Amino acid sequence: MTDTQACHEKLSVLSETGFVVLRSSRERLDPAEWESLAYLDWKSGGDTNFAVLASATGEDDPRGFWEHDKPDKDAIWTANALRAPSLRRWVMSVGARFGRVRIIKLQPSTSETDVTGQHLHLDDNNRLNPDGEGWVVRAWLNLTDDPDSYMILREDRDDPTTERRIPLPAGAQFVADTERLWHAAYHTGKSPRYAMIASFESGPALQAWIDANAVERMPGPRSSATRMTRTDFLG
Ligand SMILES: [Fe+2]
Repeated sequence: MTDTQACHEKLSVLSETGFVVLRSSRERLDPAEWESLAYLDWKSGGDTNFAVLASATGEDDPRGFWEHDKPDKDAIWTANALRAPSLRRWVMSVGARFGRVRIIKLQPSTSETDVTGQHLHLDDNNRLNPDGEGWVVRAWLNLTDDPDSYMILREDRDDPTTERRIPLPAGAQFVADTERLWHAAYHTGKSPRYAMIASFESGPALQAWIDANAVERMPGPRSSATRMTRTDFLG
């Protein structure tokens, strides 16, 4: 199930491409769980605001856990989380150690060129992660229905042939090693896109959750991904 690479345990399911698309969640969620939260002005991957559901200290703090001498694990729920019981349950259902949990509110993108030219970035998920523990990766749950928007992932920021795209309909779920893959969402809608992003420690619990939510099909290369439809990912 897992490989020990370098100093951290990593999931072999992520070794080839760095990500895995899961079966979409069919749970109907109340938009009040994300629309009623307190959002902070915090830019990452575009014109964004973030609502913090779990942080290093339980405070409404969007900063990296290293600011508190912690790896991105063992987060504490914030006041926002009290208003988002279904989202909290989703995180707990994974069963793995979790770090930062946030809702991203992404305004519509200006253009795909701007996204690939300005917003692709790597995350800093493993600062202070002790040797021998699981590598921290991120899981997404798309909250709004944005079937024409997609997450852009690249092994090489400047090489479009390394690109993969993940469509973002409501309930879309995927796990990505975002310290390895350059990433940013291209959002075509007219209203904000909301998604939950959570850090999880690689290990048997995360692997079991991935297995339980597995689908057969994976996104193709960039040239074919745009022809895929929502049903390709519903499993
Ligand atoms: Fe990121």
